[in-house]
Amino acid sequence: MLIKFALITGASSGLGEQLSYALSKRGIGLILTGRDEEKLKKVASHLPPSTQVICSDLAKSQDRKQLVEFIHKQSPDLIINNAGFGLYGPALCHPTLDLQEMIEVNIQALMELTLEGSKAMIQAKKRGVILNVSSAAAFMSYPTFCVYAATKAFVNSFSQGIHEELKREGVHVLTVCPGQIDTGFRKRASGGFPQKKDKITIDKERAVALILKQIDNLTPISIIDWRYKCLIALAKLLPKRVLFPLLEKSLRERYDKKAICDRDT
Ligand SMILES: NC(=O)c1ccc[n+]([C@@H]2O[C@H](COP(=O)([O-])OP(=O)(O)OC[C@H]3O[C@@H](n4cnc5c(N)ncnc54)[C@H](OP(=O)(O)O)[C@@H]3O)[C@@H](O)[C@H]2O)c1
Repeated sequence: MLIKFALITGASSGLGEQLSYALSKRGIGLILTGRDEEKLKKVASHLPPSTQVICSDLAKSQDRKQLVEFIHKQSPDLIINNAGFGLYGPALCHPTLDLQEMIEVNIQALMELTLEGSKAMIQAKKRGVILNVSSAAAFMSYPTFCVYAATKAFVNSFSQGIHEELKREGVHVLTVCPGQIDTGFRKRASGGFPQKKDKITIDKERAVALILKQIDNLTPISIIDWRYKCLIALAKLLPKRVLFPLLEKSLRERYDKKAICDRDT
C-alpha cells in the first residue's frame, strides 16, 4: 500500500521518535503528536520543514477531541497509536487516578483515534493503515503490572476485531506486540528507579525495522522478537500458580517497592 502521510502519537521520544525518522526517510509526510512541545519540535528539527507538530495530552478528552477534528481535516493514510505508558508495582500502591490516566491514554485515546481515523480514511475514499502499539504483556494477566497488561489485552482484542470489520473497506488495523525495548518506558514505569539493560531488551532501531516490515506486509498481528514468541507460548502452557510468581519476580528488581507503596496516595 502506498503511504504518503502519517500521524504518530507519542512521537516525542522512544519508539515514536524512531518511527518518525524511519518513515520520513521513506518520503512520508508526518504529523507528530505528544504532550511536550519542546521535545516534539526537537524531533521535527531533524525532519523536513513540512512536518507538523501538535501538542496533545491524550489523557484529556478535550485534547483528544481536537486531535480527532484535525485527523478529519487532514486525513492521514497511516495512523500509529504509539503513545502509552505502564506503572510497575502492586496496583493498590498507585493512586487510582494514575491508573485511570493509563486507561485514558492506552485504551480510550487509541480506540477514539482508531474509530475516527478509519472513518476519516473511508470518507476520503482512501485505503489506509492504523497501527496500534500493544505489548507482549497483552497475552497474560501480570501481577504487579496488571492494569498495564489489561490495557494492552484490550488493544489486541479490539484491534484484531475491528481489523476484520474494516479490511473490506480498505482500512487495515494492525497490532504490534513488542517485548522490552530500550526507551524511556521503564523510567516512567518505575518512577525513575535505575534500570539494568538485560539481554532480552532490543534497541529501538531493530524494533522499528520490524514494525515497518509489518506495515509493508499488512500483517494483522505480530510479536516482536522470537524470544518473546517463545515466552508467550510457554506462559500459555504453564499453570497460573507457577506463572504468576515468575511474572512477579521478573519485575521485582525494576522498582522500589518501599518507595512506591509507602508514599501517601
Ligand atoms: N519500551 C518497551 O519496553 C515497550 C514494550 C512493549 C510495548 N511498549 C509500548 O510502546 C509504546 C511506546 O513506548 P516507548 O517504549 O517509546 O516509551 P517512551 O519512550 O516512554 O515513549 C512514550 C511516548 O508516549 C507519550 N505519552 C505518554 N503519555 C502521554 C499522554 N498523556 N498524552 C500524549 N502522549 C503521551 C510520551 O510523550 P510525552 O513526551 O508527552 O511524555 C512519549 O512520546 C507504548 O505504547 C508502550 O506501551 C513499550
